Amino acid sequence: MPDQSTPRGPNTDSYGAELSRTPLRDTAPGTELTRRRVLGLGAALGLVAAGGTNAAAAPSRHRDNTGGQLRSAVPLPEPYTVPLPVPPVLAPADTSGGTDRYEITQRQVTARILPEVTTTLWTYNGTYPGPTIESRRGRPVTMRHRNELPVPTVVHLHGGRTPAGSDGYPTDLVLPDGWPDPAPGRHGEANMAHDPRAVTSRTTREYTYPLDQRAALLWYHDHRMDFTAPAIWRGLAGMHIVRDEVEDALDLPGGERELALMIADRAFADDGSLAYPALDPELRDRPGVTEPYAAGVLGDVILVNGAPWPVHEVDAVRHRLRLVNASNARHYRLEAVTDDGHRLDLVQIGADQGLLATPVTLTDLPIAPAERYDVVIDFAGLPPGSRVRLRNRLGSGRTRDVMAFRVARAASDPSTIPEVLCDDLPSWRRSQVTMLRRFTFRAGHTEQGVGWFVNGEPFDPTRTDVYTWRGAVEVWRLTADVHHPVHLHQTGFQVLSRDGRAPLPHDAGLKDTVSLRPGETADIIVRFDVHRGRYLFHCHNAEHEDMGMMANLEIV
Ligand code: C2O
Ligand code: CU
Ligand code: CU
Repeated sequence: MPDQSTPRGPNTDSYGAELSRTPLRDTAPGTELTRRRVLGLGAALGLVAAGGTNAAAAPSRHRDNTGGQLRSAVPLPEPYTVPLPVPPVLAPADTSGGTDRYEITQRQVTARILPEVTTTLWTYNGTYPGPTIESRRGRPVTMRHRNELPVPTVVHLHGGRTPAGSDGYPTDLVLPDGWPDPAPGRHGEANMAHDPRAVTSRTTREYTYPLDQRAALLWYHDHRMDFTAPAIWRGLAGMHIVRDEVEDALDLPGGERELALMIADRAFADDGSLAYPALDPELRDRPGVTEPYAAGVLGDVILVNGAPWPVHEVDAVRHRLRLVNASNARHYRLEAVTDDGHRLDLVQIGADQGLLATPVTLTDLPIAPAERYDVVIDFAGLPPGSRVRLRNRLGSGRTRDVMAFRVARAASDPSTIPEVLCDDLPSWRRSQVTMLRRFTFRAGHTEQGVGWFVNGEPFDPTRTDVYTWRGAVEVWRLTADVHHPVHLHQTGFQVLSRDGRAPLPHDAGLKDTVSLRPGETADIIVRFDVHRGRYLFHCHNAEHEDMGMMANLEIV
């Protein structure tokens, strides 16, 4: 595999000329991550829990989360008492001309998440999660968003293969009524300069999604410059399911036996509001969080589809769980346990970007922020009345619980899990690779305090970090100090290796987010094969993202 800054290989000739005019630079940082540096900075910031970054302590080093945990100041319900909500599927306002047109209003509502208090949320159409969108592969969708919130917003469809103009670039803001027009210097807080390429609008914006992509669970969320983390925390997230014929041809569990589950942690202040350690509680001017939470904000309440530790009644048959971790910083390691202590298999059938080639049987499943996993769990043989808990092996105390299933009755099960799920996964080969790029994801210091950097630099919307060309196949070598779930916009990738060894079983399939563990280096292979334009890649620890750990990718 080439390790260099200029392309070579059998398929480079046609764009060699273009490349020589393009200011490609070798992004190799030159220095390897040193243990001393990681420990020094990590310990100073309280980022690294016991066991930290000692690579020799491999089995234990992954158990911890990166971040600081808030404690709720209100009574919390007993686990497994609140029913699991199923977010409504939004009906299109119009389906003429081969396009599904949707309308969403972003507005503040008061909701009852905990039984004893009410909570103010920022929502898509009044609910958290927002309405679920169901689409067919290749059938375009337009989403008309109206911003009635007190701050600018911008919507990103995570996992969507979307033209750049609709991808929700962080400065492409939809300004609410009364918000001042953006001017140079207006965005001058923190790390960023004014972005001359920003396309802002007033109160509404229409996003167009071709959705010419594999069936998958995508999710949409806010992506506002410097303020993504608190906006998601307040409720700006929803699910978007894409379906296709490949999946239809299988007899996977469907209907009520297919559950889309958005998992997220939160904490509640004594007035019932969502606690969040923002430096600017109005989220208007000053980004960032207070120092103890600079590595990420963790809550002590686990919500599934917006309900605390919910319970859901099921038939004693296979169920398809479509999981998305919409937490800002919390990692989970999920297991399904019966009350008499048996672990049920989690049969993974899909990843971020859709079906795996073949199922992977797991006893527990790690899931990092923004990752999606599609798993089948079989309740067959469990007597009515029995309970299966979905537990989080990385949690402690109340964060060990996630949700439960209550088996209601025996039933017939027409579903199957075929040995081969699909054959439409890309098969990029190392011989096609024209570029190896290296990126470090590490903490650093800024004038404002702690920052999170890609290759030593905080995000700057006016700087292009990577130029590549449409169709290029590249290997990206990603190195972390603490946990960093790294996400690429627009494109899927495959995990080639972790620390030079084979990827983990759940790394299979096509992904758009890879969970780097402390001190780890992962290689991913990616092809930039759809749209040209300016895209992002970033850490999906949402606090890291807001504090600089994001970079620009220009596809030419
Ligand atoms: Cu989930 Cu840049 O996004
Ligand atoms: Cu994304
Ligand atoms: Cu990170």
